[in-house]
Amino acid sequence: MTTERYQFFDHNPILPDVVEEVKQSLRETPKRLPPKYFYDEYGSALFEQITELPEYYLTRTEIEILNENKEELSRTIDKSCCLIEYGSGSSRKVRSLIDAIDPRFYVPVDISKEHLHTSAKAIHDDFDSLHVYPTCADYTEAIQLPDAIDGAPRCGFFPGSSIGNFERDDASLFLVNLARDIGPGGHCIIGFDSRKPKAILEPAYNDTQGVTASFNLNLLTHLNRTIGTDFKPTQFRHHAFYDESLGRIEMHLISETEQTVTLDDERFQIARNEAIHTENSYKYSLTDVQELASKAGMSLVTHWQDSKAWFYVALLRVPDDIQSGDS
Ligand code: AVI
Repeated sequence: MTTERYQFFDHNPILPDVVEEVKQSLRETPKRLPPKYFYDEYGSALFEQITELPEYYLTRTEIEILNENKEELSRTIDKSCCLIEYGSGSSRKVRSLIDAIDPRFYVPVDISKEHLHTSAKAIHDDFDSLHVYPTCADYTEAIQLPDAIDGAPRCGFFPGSSIGNFERDDASLFLVNLARDIGPGGHCIIGFDSRKPKAILEPAYNDTQGVTASFNLNLLTHLNRTIGTDFKPTQFRHHAFYDESLGRIEMHLISETEQTVTLDDERFQIARNEAIHTENSYKYSLTDVQELASKAGMSLVTHWQDSKAWFYVALLRVPDDIQSGDS
């Protein structure tokens, strides 16, 4: 039987009611705004710029680790497997992994339809024998995978320290779903930013060119344009710091004046110097990684790191006897 080498699966993920979500977040004390709204077109371009900054070591370190350990990766992961990438975005990092492990299927999962189609098509065009099945879905929920991959060993891929943007409990829930997707004996490769001194972490989120500040402030511009809030971005400043005990970078927008923001008919008072919490970026020690894996019923098979141990690429495995979620 021949199967098409490219098929798009659209599960029409339910998009949140942004107005309600933003209202709820601004009603909380302290106020917050969901980090997913960083990523409009301009915000995504700013994030790409962040990944190139001298202070933001995460992306380049992870790529270096993946490249340096290609051989071991190719020996460990089943050839002809199905590689499932969660939140695939531009599918940039997966290219060297596809080169290394030579999978039979690639299933990029992303919520953004257009972007998903463009980057999946490019992968399809560049890798001759790879079957590419982009799946438009919200990967923070249980996802339905294409039937065509049934029977293939599975390997999940969640790079970039994106797991760090989940609260620690949500990270375990995400892994529980992922373990169900990849099933008994399946592997996953996950990028973790390590816990390290403030002196290294804080500059990564407070770059001297101010790109991270623009990225943070763009959240307000994005919401003004899409849902009609009337934030005045020039009256806020970016603030990011490392909370060592929680092992996380916190990003905030600090109001420089006393001001009011309106959304529909609701008004939100913001005091001078009041902070709106926009993002957490959790850092993981190897013990944290081990704990996280075991909470999801997985084991940490091995990990690769750079010479300074600033970033870990962890290989987790689902035991053969775990209860499969497939019906
Ligand atoms: C996407 N994520 C892993 C980035 C991080 O480091 O938490 C988002 C980011 N926020 C500020 N700079 C980068």
